[in-house]
Amino acid sequence: MIFETIIYEVKNDIGYIVINRPKALNALNVQALKELSEVLDMVAADENAKVVIITGAGGKSFVAGADISAMQNMSAVEAYEYARLGQTTYDKIQELPKMVIAAIDGFALGGGCELALACDIRIASAKSKIGIPEVTLGVLPGFAGTQRLPRLIGVSNAKEMLATARKISAGEAREIGLVNCVVEENPMAKAEELAAEICKNSMSAIALGKKAMNEGMEMELKKGIEHEASLFAIAFTTPDQREGMTAFLEKRPANFK
Ligand code: CAA
Repeated sequence: MIFETIIYEVKNDIGYIVINRPKALNALNVQALKELSEVLDMVAADENAKVVIITGAGGKSFVAGADISAMQNMSAVEAYEYARLGQTTYDKIQELPKMVIAAIDGFALGGGCELALACDIRIASAKSKIGIPEVTLGVLPGFAGTQRLPRLIGVSNAKEMLATARKISAGEAREIGLVNCVVEENPMAKAEELAAEICKNSMSAIALGKKAMNEGMEMELKKGIEHEASLFAIAFTTPDQREGMTAFLEKRPANFK
C-alpha cells in the first residue's frame, strides 16, 4: 500500500515507520494520522516485523506536533474528533504486542512528544529538543500528553513542562526519565542495536510482559500482581516457554521462531 505521509518497510526483523512530511517538520495532519493508524494495523499483522522503530524524515525533526495550520480554524467538535483520532492512533502503539522504539533526531514537540510517549523506548540524539509547547498556542496537549507524560516523569516535572512550554534538551530529558538514552548523533543506529538485542528473545514473552506492565499500571498493586500471574500462566501455553526452558537445561541458545 502506498502512503503519502508515512513510509513503512521491514528489514532484518525490524518494521520501520517514518513520518514523512519534512517540509512541515513532520507535523501530523489528519491524513498523516489516518495513514499512521493504517500502518500500525499492518505492522500488528506483520510477522516479519518483530520490533518497530518510529522516526521522522528530513534529519531536522522527529515530529513537530499536530498540524497547526490544520487546527487553526477547527470548531470544538472538529478539535475533539482530531484529538480522538490522535489518541486512538497512539493507543495502537501502546497496545501493539511488539516493542516500539522512538528514534528522535531533532524536534519532538506537542503531538510529536506525545507520539514518542506512546512508544515503549525513546532514544534521542544530543541535538533533540523535546517539549509540549501547546500553551503558547492557547491550547493544551490533545494526543494524551497530559496523561502519559505525568505517568512517565511525575506530575511535577510534567506540569513544569506544560506550563513553561520549554523545549528541553535531550540531556535534560534523560535526567527526568523522558528518554531512555541520549546518543551524540544517529539515534537510528542505537535503536537498531537495541532492536537486535530484543530480537534474540521470545517475542510472545515480550508481548505478554509489555501487556502486564501496560495494564498493571492502570490497576492497584494487588490486582496488577494477580494479573501478572494470569499472563505468566498464558506464557506456559506458548512454544517459546518449552523452547526457552529446554534450551537452558540443554545448555544451548534458545531458538525462538
Ligand atoms: N504544524 C504545522 N506546520 C509546522 C509545524 C506544526 N506543528 N511545525 C513546523 N511547521 C512548519 C512551519 O510552519 C514551516 O512551514 P513553512 O516553511 O511553510 O513556513 C516549516 O514547518 C518549518 O518550520 P520553521 O520555519 O518554524 O522552522 P524553525 O527551525 O524556525 O523552527 C520549530 C522549528 C521550533 C519546531 C517551529 O517550527 C515550531 O515551533 N513549530 C511548532 C511546534 C509546536 O508548537 N508544536 C505543538 C503543536 S500543537 C499540538 O501538537 C497539539 C496536540 O497535542 C494535539
